[in-house]
Amino acid sequence: MAKEPAYLSFFNLKEEPFTTSPNPRFLYASPLHHVALQKTRYVVSAKKGLCVVFGDTGTGKTTLSRLLYQQFVDDGFTTALLTNPSYPTANQLLRTIMQEFEYPRFGRSYKASLDRLKEFLYQQTTQEKNTLVLIVDEAQTLKPAMLEFLRQLLNYETNEQKLLQMVLFSQNELRVRLRRAKNFSNRIVLKASLENLSLTDSREMLEFRWTVAGGKKFPFTSDGLEAIFDYSAGVPRTQVILADNCLLAAFLKKQKQINQSLVAEVAKDQEIELAT
Ligand SMILES: Nc1ncnc2c1ncn2[C@@H]1O[C@H](COP(=O)(O)OP(=O)(O)O)[C@@H](O)[C@H]1O
Ligand SMILES: [Mg+2]
Repeated sequence: MAKEPAYLSFFNLKEEPFTTSPNPRFLYASPLHHVALQKTRYVVSAKKGLCVVFGDTGTGKTTLSRLLYQQFVDDGFTTALLTNPSYPTANQLLRTIMQEFEYPRFGRSYKASLDRLKEFLYQQTTQEKNTLVLIVDEAQTLKPAMLEFLRQLLNYETNEQKLLQMVLFSQNELRVRLRRAKNFSNRIVLKASLENLSLTDSREMLEFRWTVAGGKKFPFTSDGLEAIFDYSAGVPRTQVILADNCLLAAFLKKQKQINQSLVAEVAKDQEIELAT
């Protein structure tokens, strides 16, 4: 494991509050994150099929996908999470899904494997009353043939419900492609969008993460928070990186407060320009 940074004891923290790893414990449910969670959970539990969450880079898609995965597993759903879905062939994607569902009973051909998966989904849904979920992160990297493959899986259904529930997380560029891929986009039951945070939400997010990390007195002053917001243009990932660098800088100066001038100094060192 990596060595803990020296500022932890200086600030009386139990763990790092501002790492960029997609740890769902650190996800602050902004109004948009909350809505995205509600929509995806609804589509999956009502077995309606497909939900897509869009958002630019750094808006919390990967973190949210990990949180959903955990929640679905806790609900007792059989859940697969694909973090890097740019498979070269549909057969590889199919085999990965079967493996993730712990049902690696591949057939001799692609078609035979697909039949097995279909049987499995049908048996699980109708006899075991199980819910099966496929979560795909970085869905903008799915090749057209893979989208077509997923569309096929969405065709599997009984009279009442889909056999496989799907949640895709994607950068906004997929929206344009989907406009042309009508066959696929017609199957989207709900869409959700993640956006950059407002100033209020940025503050709440940083404070929330500080508390989760065991922090007591929050070190950022109001103008320090505003500076973080200005330099990051509201992008959560940039805020987290900047906030982390500020903790280190404050520690090196043996200074417990992080104000606007310290944030500006750190941003300059990091070559983060003010968004104009
Ligand atoms: N709502 C949020 N609450 C807390 N941290 C967030 C939030 N949104 C994004 N982050 C943080 O920003 C960074 C990037 O998030 P990530 O989920 O990787 O975004 P994306 O996948 O959309 O690029 C991570 O450190 C993540 O924890
Ligand atoms: Mg991501």
